[in-house]
Amino acid sequence: MKHKKHKVLFVCLGNICRSPAAEGVLKDIVAKEGQEDEWIIDSAGTGRYHIGELPDTRMRVHARQRGLELTHRCRQVETEDFDKFDFIIGMDANNIKNLKRIAPSPEAEKKIVPMASFFNPGNRWDYVPDPYYEGSEGFELVLDLLEEGCRNLFDRLTE
Ligand code: 4NP
Repeated sequence: MKHKKHKVLFVCLGNICRSPAAEGVLKDIVAKEGQEDEWIIDSAGTGRYHIGELPDTRMRVHARQRGLELTHRCRQVETEDFDKFDFIIGMDANNIKNLKRIAPSPEAEKKIVPMASFFNPGNRWDYVPDPYYEGSEGFELVLDLLEEGCRNLFDRLTE
């Protein structure tokens, strides 16, 4: 029997920088592994400042330099996401706190996982820093952290 799909939702504050980038990075890994039919991957924000927008231009430029086209349209995370997804992955402690606030049950709350839990041991970061008010190096750092974390996430869920 075929196993259930892996259903992963990435969450940050604005849903225009970190989480749509994470969605793009993991979708790229999954496509290259020929597993597109086995995964449902999406992203959302705890805030509602940018609903309907494409990811931030700076994030799209930096992602494109790594061969990723980010086409997600910003949306706010909703209670129903806890039914639709198995892993709800927050980028920083604030995202996790806000997700816990809207989790509809203790079982749902168990689906919330920090992105940093997928970083390599020894990585000095324990969250994905918000690049919104940063320069290019902030966006590059986010993509580096997400590539490392998404690779480990993929390996962990498919081993
Ligand atoms: P993100 O970055 O949470 O990685 O999408 C941000 C984007 C927008 C804002 C904050 C963070 N904002 O305040 O509009």
